[in-house]
Amino acid sequence: MGSFPTLCTMSDAVVLVVGGGGREHALALGLIESPSVGSVHVAPGNAGTAMVATNHAVSASDIDGIIGLAKTIDAELVVVGPEGPLVAGLSDRLREEGIPSFGPHAEGARLEGSKEYAKQVMLDLGVPTAAVIRVEAHDAIDDALDSFSSPWVVKRDVLAGGKGVTVTEDRNIAHSTISDAIDTDGFVLLEEFMAGEEASMLVLMDESGYVCLPASQDHKRVGEGDTGPNTGGMGAYAPAPVVTDSVKMRAIEEIVEPMHAHLSTQKIPYRGCLYVGLMIDSEGTPRVVEFNVRFGDPETQVTIPLIETDLNLLLGACANGSIADIDVSFHNAATMTVVLASEGYPGTANTGRSLRGSDVRIEEGALRGFIHHAGTRQDGAEIVSSGGRVCSATGIAPTLNGAASIAYRLMDSLELEGSHHRRDIGYRAL
Ligand code: AMP
Ligand code: GLY
Repeated sequence: MGSFPTLCTMSDAVVLVVGGGGREHALALGLIESPSVGSVHVAPGNAGTAMVATNHAVSASDIDGIIGLAKTIDAELVVVGPEGPLVAGLSDRLREEGIPSFGPHAEGARLEGSKEYAKQVMLDLGVPTAAVIRVEAHDAIDDALDSFSSPWVVKRDVLAGGKGVTVTEDRNIAHSTISDAIDTDGFVLLEEFMAGEEASMLVLMDESGYVCLPASQDHKRVGEGDTGPNTGGMGAYAPAPVVTDSVKMRAIEEIVEPMHAHLSTQKIPYRGCLYVGLMIDSEGTPRVVEFNVRFGDPETQVTIPLIETDLNLLLGACANGSIADIDVSFHNAATMTVVLASEGYPGTANTGRSLRGSDVRIEEGALRGFIHHAGTRQDGAEIVSSGGRVCSATGIAPTLNGAASIAYRLMDSLELEGSHHRRDIGYRAL
């Protein structure tokens, strides 16, 4: 009996990646290395994705434009990087058109789109997280501040790329931050401070099952020793040793299992990455800091290189609701990425400057290193900066020490006027 061709035998799949940051460069690289993939397209991409894939000048937020592009190129899979288009319903629209999309529908994306909604879901399911108070009146601020001790955690319920959160020991700052947020947003969340160490657990899930990718650790503060304002992320490494086997088991049992049971039984099941931001206390108890409904940036840059399985088959199975059918394996290696940021970031970034050295690679047996592009664009023969996080230097090695030394060797070869980076990425694990 003749058999139908299956996904596994195809080597010509057309995949569209939506977004233009370091995460999308990492996804494009992982997909282009997948034996089942014929071509990778990126919208809008950056100077790095242009080297391995076909960029299209369509903004990630242009839902109609992305749908039109996916149809034009006959995409068999769309992998959505950023949260904005997911919250706006890109996956819903793609699925209506019969195009498999990796990334949840708008309802599922509310877990990131609204911190208040995510808290309610966690409360309903008994998922461990910080206590929270909603503050909506100026005369309620002092009582709310009295309910928790310093430091205070003030969260605007808006999509702010990790920058809508203020953690402060100064009551006056907490007060004015709450007051300002009430004026602009109508309300704000005040949360219990959770002490401990953070880690990111990226979980690929659909209604058939889930796969936990190796845990990583991001460095959200701009300054060394985790000081200064929050950023989108200044560097990451994986696997993060703070997620011991026992922490992982607890996180799966207490967080991932109930979330999966909930999300997989919705009218429209969740299909995509659930990013579980964990706070792990000194006793190894994990609690949820936040959910994101997409891959992390820069966590993706250190996670994708650890996946041995064909990435297109893995993400494609998830987009089609059959992830349980995939055998997933990982490389026994460590990865680190160090972000090079523009002058001014995380405030107003000075962009449009020439970036040199981004083509340097290291290939020394088991030691590998290369640059993930983020806010870059090609300008004639030059690559110029076009965003706050410009690129990141990534090292892959048998040990974390090895990965760090590769990443920092690469960082030394990068030149961008006024740029800054952290010299202590991975310090908790090294
Ligand atoms: P979020 O956008 O909710 O992930 O918050 C950004 C960052 O603020 C987190 O990565 C943490 O470093 C910090 N943070 C948020 N919520 C808390 C909390 N309840 N306790 C301690 N730190 C927090
Ligand atoms: N690196 C944090 C995030 O992607 O939200």
